[in-house]
Amino acid sequence: MSEGEDPLAQPTPLGRAPAPPTPGAAGAPGGRPGAPVAAEPPIHRRPQRGGVFEAVNAGRPFATVVHEQLAGVRANLQVERFCLWYGSNQALWEVSLAVPEGSVTALIGPSGCGKSTLLRCVNRMNDLIGSVRVAGDMRLAGDDIYGPGVDVIDLRKRIGMVFQKPNPFPMSIYENVAYPLRIDGVRDRAVLDEVVEQSLVGAGLWDEVKDRLKESGLALSGGQQQRLCIARALAGDPEILLLDEPCSALDPLATGRIEDLIQELRGRYTILIVTHNMQQAQRASDFTAFMYLGRLVEYGPTEEIFVHPRLTETEDYVTGRFG
Ligand SMILES: Nc1ncnc2c1ncn2[C@@H]1O[C@H](COP(=O)(O)OP(=O)(O)OP(=O)(O)O)[C@@H](O)[C@H]1O
Ligand SMILES: [Mg+2]
Repeated sequence: MSEGEDPLAQPTPLGRAPAPPTPGAAGAPGGRPGAPVAAEPPIHRRPQRGGVFEAVNAGRPFATVVHEQLAGVRANLQVERFCLWYGSNQALWEVSLAVPEGSVTALIGPSGCGKSTLLRCVNRMNDLIGSVRVAGDMRLAGDDIYGPGVDVIDLRKRIGMVFQKPNPFPMSIYENVAYPLRIDGVRDRAVLDEVVEQSLVGAGLWDEVKDRLKESGLALSGGQQQRLCIARALAGDPEILLLDEPCSALDPLATGRIEDLIQELRGRYTILIVTHNMQQAQRASDFTAFMYLGRLVEYGPTEEIFVHPRLTETEDYVTGRFG
């Protein structure tokens, strides 16, 4: 079998020419149109060279490998052949990925491979950059994120985002968490009190702050500030949480608390997390997507990606041989 012809691979042409939709893209195994779906038991064969680096360098197509365990998953976020350009620089190339509902999915890959760009596309934060152009399809619970007439404010209410650096607003702990409700016009004190408490409990911060809700959010430690930001995201009752390296500014103890929190939130929320920390991806996520230079290279259950990756490119990255 030649490179890129793995029957489990999903074809992902890199060119911009319109191509017929790939049946079950970003989820189905054996994605070649019309090809029978291979009902393979998990075979732990040696990783194969995916020819990814050669293909990228030569501008040739290559096949994203999507593990068969992702076939038929119920996706909360569905990304199909998504491309993004910053001016004339293409940063995302035909990315297709189904983010399973109620699961934690980690995005990994070397610096500059487009992880944050992809995350920011979900709540259309890249709209704020004038030179950005996108193509392809992205859906949240089936609703077109880039369709004509989409109300971006309404869309963003369905999505919670937490950044690398905690960014509490310069207001009290209480008002930080109440903020999404305030901008929705909620004034009922009992409702606000309840949501603030539930969100702080959900973010694992309640016991530490319940007696100081009127103090500034900025007075908290870095780890507490990050949990405050998660509480604020939860208060908006989002369908999906986007976490962009949420622990990179935190010490190991605070990192552990956020990872525990992610475990507690799993099931109730769909979580897409960017991390450079391979141990964190292994500990905290159910599925892992490996990106390289704007392309999705391999996507599968986290254990498979780390223990039995299908491609040597993935193996080299997760074992620290490059990147
Ligand atoms: N605002 C922007 N304007 C122009 N180019 C950008 C912008 N933001 C990102 N890029 C480019 O897009 C590519 C992907 O960047 P991105 O920040 O998404 O990578 P990343 O995988 O999140 O990297 P890191 O791990 O370092 O955070 C890079 O080449 C980067 O230079
Ligand atoms: Mg980034």
